[in-house]
Amino acid sequence: MKKSIFIIIITIIIFLSLPTPSLSLSKPCNKNDENTLFQIKKSLNNPYHLASWQNTLDCCHWYCVKCNKTTGRIIELTIFSGNISAQIPPEVGNLPYLQTLLFRKLTNLTGQIPSTITKLTHLTMLRLSWTNLSGPIPSFISQLTNLNYLDLSFNNLTGSIPPELATLPNLGTLHLDRNKLTGTIPGSFGMFKTVPYLYLSHNQLTGDVPKSLGYLNFTWIDFSRNQLTGDLSMFFGTNKTIQVADFSRNNFEFNLSEMEVSGTLSHLDLNHNKVYGSLPEAFTSESLQYLNVSYNRLCGKIPQGGNMQRFDNTSYFHNRCLCGLPLPRC
Ligand SMILES: *[C@@H]1O[C@H](CO)[C@@H](O)[C@H](O)[C@H]1NC(C)=O
Ligand SMILES: *[C@@H]1O[C@H](CO)[C@@H](O)[C@H](O)[C@H]1NC(C)=O
Ligand SMILES: *[C@@H]1O[C@H](CO)[C@@H](O)[C@H](O)[C@H]1NC(C)=O
Ligand SMILES: *[C@@H]1O[C@H](CO)[C@@H](O)[C@H](O)[C@H]1NC(C)=O
Ligand SMILES: *[C@@H]1O[C@H](CO)[C@@H](O)[C@H](O)[C@H]1NC(C)=O
Ligand SMILES: *[C@@H]1O[C@H](CO)[C@@H](O)[C@H](O)[C@H]1NC(C)=O
Ligand SMILES: *[C@@H]1O[C@H](CO)[C@@H](O)[C@H](O)[C@H]1NC(C)=O
Ligand SMILES: *[C@@H]1O[C@H](CO)[C@@H](O)[C@H](O)[C@H]1NC(C)=O
Ligand SMILES: *[C@@H]1O[C@H](CO)[C@@H](O)[C@H](O)[C@H]1NC(C)=O
Ligand SMILES: *[C@@H]1O[C@H](CO)[C@@H](O)[C@H](O)[C@H]1NC(C)=O
Repeated sequence: MKKSIFIIIITIIIFLSLPTPSLSLSKPCNKNDENTLFQIKKSLNNPYHLASWQNTLDCCHWYCVKCNKTTGRIIELTIFSGNISAQIPPEVGNLPYLQTLLFRKLTNLTGQIPSTITKLTHLTMLRLSWTNLSGPIPSFISQLTNLNYLDLSFNNLTGSIPPELATLPNLGTLHLDRNKLTGTIPGSFGMFKTVPYLYLSHNQLTGDVPKSLGYLNFTWIDFSRNQLTGDLSMFFGTNKTIQVADFSRNNFEFNLSEMEVSGTLSHLDLNHNKVYGSLPEAFTSESLQYLNVSYNRLCGKIPQGGNMQRFDNTSYFHNRCLCGLPLPRC
């Protein structure tokens, strides 16, 4: 009796000391996905960055990928900051369960955005950023209807913004900043179903901002460093929920005197435009934590109250005739 208990204990000890994979419930990597990853590695010219991509190791354990543990399918491909001189392999379209696709900080990644990504219907995050991609922003991106996060910033993309992007029903963030985009902001951007954080800065966009954008409640907008014109009243008003707005370094030209702002606005940058009139009383709202109206054509006394006297004098300098604290008295 004692002997059999001893044997049972020994058996349990041996069983527990076995390598974990035999106990683990995760499925091995899908063979089709493994083959696709090998093709991708080859298309990227077998970079050192992907040295762990070897058939001696289950591909769910490779660097830069993530599997669904139940299905063994690749759901993330995130290639970040390597020495890779190539184009985006069209084979990425053959990872049908991909939810996240990221190529970032790869300055020798060139070429255009491949149309094969339209096959990635589960994609929620697409980040092709800080690379050297060129050519247009393809309108076929609008076929990726599950996209929540689209980032094409810091590239060499040219042409205009495709109006079709506004049909993406779940878009929470849109980064098209730091490219060489031209043309106007599409009027369709007033029809987003969910209202994205919108970053269009550091491009060569021109024309008036479409009035239709006033149909939505934006919370975060960065249009800085373009050549945009017209006025911005559609984003503001006591009704609106905008929090952060950077319109600096454009050609906006309007009378600021009657601008109404809601209690949600915390950051407003209008520096380097052609804004005229005077600073509205509404800017004395306690919610306003950052203001920069420097390098415009404003006049009159800086309203007293809120944080208006706490802002640096560089928030106000280089205007036609603004005066009063923190600038010299009127
Ligand atoms: C993994 O796949 C299963 C089965 O399709 C699904 O229920 C689950 O939500 C997936 N998990 C992730 C993290 O995608
Ligand atoms: C990019 O390619 C050039 C030329 O081959 C090489 O000198 C440079 O180190 C590469 N840079 C990176 C970050 O990959
Ligand atoms: C990138 O790789 C190229 C060729 O393999 C090499 O000449 C270059 O020095 C590498 N650059 C960096 C930044 O490692
Ligand atoms: C980007 O690509 C262009 C050619 O298309 C090349 O002249 C330039 O050096 C590249 N920039 C970087 C940062 O690799
Ligand atoms: C864009 O291309 C130019 C040359 O064509 C290059 O100097 C620049 O570094 C590239 N920009 C990016 C973000 O790669
Ligand atoms: C914006 O949000 C405010 C507060 O939630 C709401 O009262 C207003 O109707 C909204 N306006 C639009 C244009 O959706
Ligand atoms: C506030 O929003 C509502 C609905 O979005 C609109 O009917 C109303 O005219 C707006 N009021 C102001 C002062 O803009
Ligand atoms: C701006 O609007 C205010 C209020 O309507 C008006 O008094 C002022 O003359 C306008 N300023 C200019 C420069 O048009
Ligand atoms: C306001 O913008 C001007 C112009 O870019 C800059 O020189 C100044 O430092 C800014 N002031 C603050 C407080 O950010
Ligand atoms: C801003 O304030 C600094 C000191 O805080 C002062 O030297 C400077 O002259 C002021 N500039 C203007 C335009 O008032």
